[in-house]
Amino acid sequence: MLTSLPLILSKAARGHYAVGAFNINNLETLQAVIAAAELERSPVIVQTSEGAIAYAGMEELASLVHIAAKKIRRPVVFHLDHGKNFNLVARAIKSGWYTSVMFDGSSLSYKENVRLTQKIVALAHRHKVSVEAEIGAIAGIEDFVTVEDRDANLTNPKQAAAFARATKCDALAVAVGTKHGAYKFKGESALDFGRLKEIAEAVRIPLVLHGASGVPTNIKNICTAYGCEISSAKGVSDTALRKAVSLGIRKVNVDTDLRLAFDAGIRKFLKERPEVIDPREILKPAIELMTKVVRQKMRTLGSNGKG
Ligand code: G3H
Ligand code: 13P
Ligand code: ZN
Repeated sequence: MLTSLPLILSKAARGHYAVGAFNINNLETLQAVIAAAELERSPVIVQTSEGAIAYAGMEELASLVHIAAKKIRRPVVFHLDHGKNFNLVARAIKSGWYTSVMFDGSSLSYKENVRLTQKIVALAHRHKVSVEAEIGAIAGIEDFVTVEDRDANLTNPKQAAAFARATKCDALAVAVGTKHGAYKFKGESALDFGRLKEIAEAVRIPLVLHGASGVPTNIKNICTAYGCEISSAKGVSDTALRKAVSLGIRKVNVDTDLRLAFDAGIRKFLKERPEVIDPREILKPAIELMTKVVRQKMRTLGSNGKG
């Protein structure tokens, strides 16, 4: 059933676990995420980005999510991911489809981010929709040129606390060294756990980790064995993810791992079964691999059995 973000994240805080937020772009990704939530008895956040909406349509994706959420017994939040366009976020809030939205003002000045987030929060709360906001900038979407540049863009704990108080947002995405996409780290993965601890001590609302895909080795190996050129891809390890959760992360965003599993499933199947032309057969292994990846992530986050 559909539910609210603050409700599942406050339960997660009490139980010291995090809830996965998985990006969907089509029916197949949604099927995998919902199947995983059902099998793991886990709460789940299903989210669509502006790109997903441009690809498939807001109403089209939203109707699929609403029907799927009605059919399963686990709590499902339907969330807009990285809403940067003020009008699109307002449209999502007013549509009645979304139970939660993210307004991403991280590329704006602090003052402008506060001002627009406040406006979105006021509108959203009137419609009983929750708001995730962002302070600091998560690389990948807003890539950085130098290491100094990167550090300057990580979230400042005091500023995060002031931002949360000023905007009254319901959850806060913080930048602590993760990056969107498949290429997060060149050498050792370097999350700033000291900074995360300070943020968690200063900020009272649930914290969100973006760019949390792990680039699982088994999936990466299938991709590369069947022609995908991603040999230097590297993600956030399960150990790092568990540590982030132990320090106070309550929502964990994952998109790239689903893309990799989708890709792996399709490439392998097409190579091994070149005679098949039915898309339903071609996409089935992709759904199965994505389901496995999402189940694994739910176990790492500790949300299994909590739905
Ligand atoms: O954080 C961004 C998500 O991975 C969504 O990516 O904008 O390509 O849909 P997208
Ligand atoms: P990944 O690219 O690590 O999957 O991050 C996804 C994300 O943060 C969506 O908002
Ligand atoms: Zn993100």
